[in-house]
Amino acid sequence: EKAGFDHFMLKEIHEQPKAYRDTMMGRIAEDGKSVTLSKEIGMTTEQIRGISRVHIVACGTAFHAGLVGKTVIESLARIPVETDVASEYRYRSPIITPDTLVIVVSQSGETADTLAALREAKRNGARVLAITNVVGSSVARDADDVITTWAGPEIAVASTKAYSSQLIAFYLLGLYLAQERGTIDQAQVVDIVEAMHRLPEQVESILEQAELFKGVAEAVSKHDNLFFIGRGLDFAVAQEGSLKLKEISYIHSEAYAAGELKHGTLALIEDGIPVIALVTQEDLYEKTLSNIKEVKARGAHVIGIANSGYEDEVAKSVDETFSIPRTLPLLTPALSVVPLQLLSYHASLARGNDVDKPRNLAKSVTVE
Ligand code: F6R
Repeated sequence: EKAGFDHFMLKEIHEQPKAYRDTMMGRIAEDGKSVTLSKEIGMTTEQIRGISRVHIVACGTAFHAGLVGKTVIESLARIPVETDVASEYRYRSPIITPDTLVIVVSQSGETADTLAALREAKRNGARVLAITNVVGSSVARDADDVITTWAGPEIAVASTKAYSSQLIAFYLLGLYLAQERGTIDQAQVVDIVEAMHRLPEQVESILEQAELFKGVAEAVSKHDNLFFIGRGLDFAVAQEGSLKLKEISYIHSEAYAAGELKHGTLALIEDGIPVIALVTQEDLYEKTLSNIKEVKARGAHVIGIANSGYEDEVAKSVDETFSIPRTLPLLTPALSVVPLQLLSYHASLARGNDVDKPRNLAKSVTVE
């Protein structure tokens, strides 16, 4: 059942290229010129044009996918987006109007807090769109519109392919909303769609080098504290990388917006502390590099994750560099998360933990 892999988590990491292809299938026109979600989303063009704000609500890893979703929808469809943790959303009297689109994201479709947030949104008259991996789940049944991620069953408690397929769902959704609202031109759609079609192979090329992450994971597993840093979408992925590591290796880590470090956290940087720095957002390269220099100067051991083509530049400022294939900045999270998943996996193994069933956690959280 593990198809020759030692753990479900590793198997599921390797299923991501297929999950991407399956989630895109039937939703991109054959000529690559448009995206269609008219089967999933029952809103008319008029209704889509009438959306004045979007709230993305989810828990844990799904929330981290929502952080990427915010940037995707804002940049493509130009609608203001707020992203909230479901257990907070319900109790902060969010401003929900009939022209608010609430997007709930849930792998299982059974998370109690997410379900309660969905119901609260509906009571307030919002339209609710669900992104879920389980057809017929509670979230899928209660939502007005559903985009299914076709990642297939996820058994490992730590989410991998469900998260990355949620990113694909957000790219499709962002493109679809943008087309309907007229905020994107066809050439841009073609560019993004072409780049999306390359993602599965690009993930495969990272997976071919999976063993590379073993050494660095073993070194990391000897520490009790570390940091992930990045800017923009790299910060969103850093948060997911940090959660994954904590969840299965039990190593404490924190994700920080790279530019925010010097406002307090820099005090925690001491000799030898590992800092994993994501440097994939072209317009932020220089800024992130200057933050890397700040932590290096305080003795941190910096592991850089950089775009292919820029890795030599990053290598000058860090101790170790891993490169990921180049794609559009907006799509990079679908690649940059993979090394972080592998790092967590190998760190957990190195610590002798039960990778697929970390202590204190359940796959589906049905209590609030
Ligand atoms: C972390 C993880 C959890 C879930 C969260 C929401 O790897 O799996 O953080 O993402 O409990 O679960 P779903 O997506 O089923 O609502």
